[in-house]
Amino acid sequence: EGKFTITSFAEKKKTGEKISVLTAYDYPTAKLLDGEVDVLLVGDSLGMVKLGYEDTLEVTVDDMVYHTRSVKRGASRSFIVTDMPYLSYHISLEESVRNAGRIMIEGKANAVKLEGGRERVEVVRKLVDSEIPVMGHLGLTPQSVNATGGFKVQARSADAGEKLLQDALSLQDAGVFAIVLECIPEEIAKYVTDSVSVPTIGIGAGRHCDGQVLVVDDMLGITEDIHPKFVKRYGKLGEEIRAMAREYNNEVKSGAFPEEVHIFKLEKSELEKIER
Ligand code: KIV
Ligand code: NA
Repeated sequence: EGKFTITSFAEKKKTGEKISVLTAYDYPTAKLLDGEVDVLLVGDSLGMVKLGYEDTLEVTVDDMVYHTRSVKRGASRSFIVTDMPYLSYHISLEESVRNAGRIMIEGKANAVKLEGGRERVEVVRKLVDSEIPVMGHLGLTPQSVNATGGFKVQARSADAGEKLLQDALSLQDAGVFAIVLECIPEEIAKYVTDSVSVPTIGIGAGRHCDGQVLVVDDMLGITEDIHPKFVKRYGKLGEEIRAMAREYNNEVKSGAFPEEVHIFKLEKSELEKIER
């Protein structure tokens, strides 16, 4: 059982073995997930999931570097992909390389991910030419929230599906090693997956993608206020955490905690000095 590397993506596409991806934002979570899934994505969902923002737009390169460093310390087997945040790859090619380079060098990511299709071809090519592997992201792209007017299912027509495929082919041409497909009908995701040579990683994109990705807090049941249809909850960690906090609170107030086993005692000779 080896390390998942950049070449593993093409191998999985060939063998048909599915690629598993979970987000991770910190050291302890990365340590738990390392080697259990193929890829850890330090997503800019960080802004919403961990920082409590309304959307992902105000996440910074500094935020992504900081969290990637933390994830990297906990992970030695899983491949680490980090999102380029909003405006870090929109202004100029030069700034884009510098920002992606910081994520790779300071953050120690194995690759970066950015959102968008044909309009990103130039920047993808520039990063790939700079030896920075790039993952694409199409369909629902949360950094476009002000342009699209909200988080909703994308490519809901044959025409929109065709446009999405052209975007995927543009990204493939520009050199991405994989493409995330978010929140699109299963049939469109299958059409794209069958038509591109790089693996597709789906989230809310049905069963036929080459891999799947979920936000870790969603699948653990820590996120409780939003219930997207595409999330499967593998547990109810949120409820468990709250129940444990409640029990602790009760035991502190009642004096049931701490108990004998949790206590440091003074040596008997020292105790006698106090009692004198
Ligand atoms: O930021 C993120 O978590 C993502 C995944 C949902 C694909 O981009
Ligand atoms: Na993201």
